[in-house]
Amino acid sequence: MTNTRLGGAHGLAHPLGYRYHIPHGVVCGLLLPYVMEYSLEYAPDKYAQVARLLGVDTEGMSANEAGRQAVEAVRRVTGRIGIPNRLRVFGVKTQDFPALIEKSLPSGNLKNNPKRLVADDLLVILQRAL
Ligand SMILES: [Fe+2]
Repeated sequence: MTNTRLGGAHGLAHPLGYRYHIPHGVVCGLLLPYVMEYSLEYAPDKYAQVARLLGVDTEGMSANEAGRQAVEAVRRVTGRIGIPNRLRVFGVKTQDFPALIEKSLPSGNLKNNPKRLVADDLLVILQRAL
């Protein structure tokens, strides 16, 4: 991870974890499918590969369709291990978004995401994950 860097889920996870006392793995797992979904169109082939690595038979699917299956496969895994799929479960509120975004922006992980994430992107992701 140190060599390859991480992505947008991590950029948002740290401020959310601090502010709402959400365990790091839980908030990363919660955010990951939302960030994948948002990033899908920027790296469909890589997400298609993730789907195959997670055991999805992607035969006959376009890269976008296969990538979408990666998102769903991650949702199945996080659901199975009991990770909530909504930030509101932890008391996250819309009015906290500006502060969370501001604290996320310095993260190098946002630059390493398949789509380089800026404030407007983070707002959309947080709204979808709320
Ligand atoms: Fe981490």
